[in-house]
Amino acid sequence: MKPTKDHVYYMPPKTLIGAGCLQKLKNELIREGIQKFLLVTDKFWSTAAETQEMISRLESSNIAITVFDKVSPNPTISQVSEGVRLYLENRCAGIISLGGGSPHDCAKGIKLTILKQDAVKGLDPFLVAINTTAGTASEMTRVAIITDESAHYKLTIVDEKIIPNIAVDDPYLMRDMPKPLTAATGMDALTHAIEAYVSKGSNPITEINAVGAIKLIHKHLYEAYINGKNIEAREGMAYAQYIAGMSFSNAGLGLVHAMAHQLGGLYNLPHGVCNAVLLPYVIEFNRSKSADKYGELAQAIDLCSHTLPGAVASKRFISYIVQLNRKLNIPKSLKELGIKKEDCLKLAEMVLKDPAWRSNPAESTKEQLKALYEEAYEGKLNI
Ligand SMILES: NC(=O)c1ccc[n+]([C@@H]2O[C@H](COP(=O)([O-])OP(=O)(O)OC[C@H]3O[C@@H](n4cnc5c(N)ncnc54)[C@H](O)[C@@H]3O)[C@@H](O)[C@H]2O)c1
Ligand SMILES: [Fe+2]
Repeated sequence: MKPTKDHVYYMPPKTLIGAGCLQKLKNELIREGIQKFLLVTDKFWSTAAETQEMISRLESSNIAITVFDKVSPNPTISQVSEGVRLYLENRCAGIISLGGGSPHDCAKGIKLTILKQDAVKGLDPFLVAINTTAGTASEMTRVAIITDESAHYKLTIVDEKIIPNIAVDDPYLMRDMPKPLTAATGMDALTHAIEAYVSKGSNPITEINAVGAIKLIHKHLYEAYINGKNIEAREGMAYAQYIAGMSFSNAGLGLVHAMAHQLGGLYNLPHGVCNAVLLPYVIEFNRSKSADKYGELAQAIDLCSHTLPGAVASKRFISYIVQLNRKLNIPKSLKELGIKKEDCLKLAEMVLKDPAWRSNPAESTKEQLKALYEEAYEGKLNI
């Protein structure tokens, strides 16, 4: 057999997923024998009734919790440093992150810093990630995105050491997400699956994950958006974003993320919204290289017959994304997000440093990226 390419796959060793699964976490932690955790979360979750109940349940089993609730959306290096300090001061042995991608990424940053600090050699925090959005899939990936607040730049960390030991996806924690959050995080998950499917690093396993995720998002996202209490739709999205995570954590992402990260770093905007606005423009840009693959995605969700050529089917796929964005009330242009047009060149230059730029199927120059930002700024999509 002629050698082609080999792959390594990463996933958490254990995942609790499905309605009500959070209740099973206590026994898992008792089995691990860890008695002191740092809870890394944000203000919304530290005051939530579900969190108070969880803390009481754990404390009744002699598992002590120190709360660190200063994580912001797009978490920063200084938040990671503060978490490290609290972890060490309180002699914790594990970290529980609770919330969306931001608390998980911050917790991963804390874990990695502790692992790398010479002064505390030998410490290896046990990491549990309880996810509440659907989503980034950060509860199960080997990726963390931390903002360097002084440089206004989002650092992408990819390291197998930060894969959570236990991932928890309980849709009951997701049912109160407000509509804009459901829309933004759902479009983030969809972007993960689409970018992984066409990525240079894709392979048969990640492709099947990506298609599975896209089918579930097609089925459940809009229902979860209009009827957030529908636990079946929330559960469908919890699985969808997890499976999308399996695809992108192993195949890599593309230009949508490489460009969205710069908007998040410079303007502190919601990650999923940036992705959603950019997605149709990037697909149109990539079509010269990957029309057939986008066409396959259109066929997978029955937007067209299997006989339609990729060149046409891929356009149907773009129209589908545009319509979905409209139904989810996502803005059409970067202008509506408050981006400054004169920043497009600076943003384009920063994209070239983002790891997601390299796995995009089509090559791009600084000038092309600037033009792409400008098109998305104006909201002018030529398809
Ligand atoms: N590590 C990865 O693999 C990965 C992948 C994609 C994105 N990201 C990163 O994740 C971050 C975005 O995470 P996110 O989109 O999940 O949001 P988030 O964690 O930033 O949370 C956004 C807001 O939603 C609130 N919230 C969270 N869950 C809620 C719920 N169930 N009900 C009501 N409100 C809730 C939070 O309190 C917060 O105010 C970005 O920094 C992005 O770059 C990471
Ligand atoms: Fe993302």
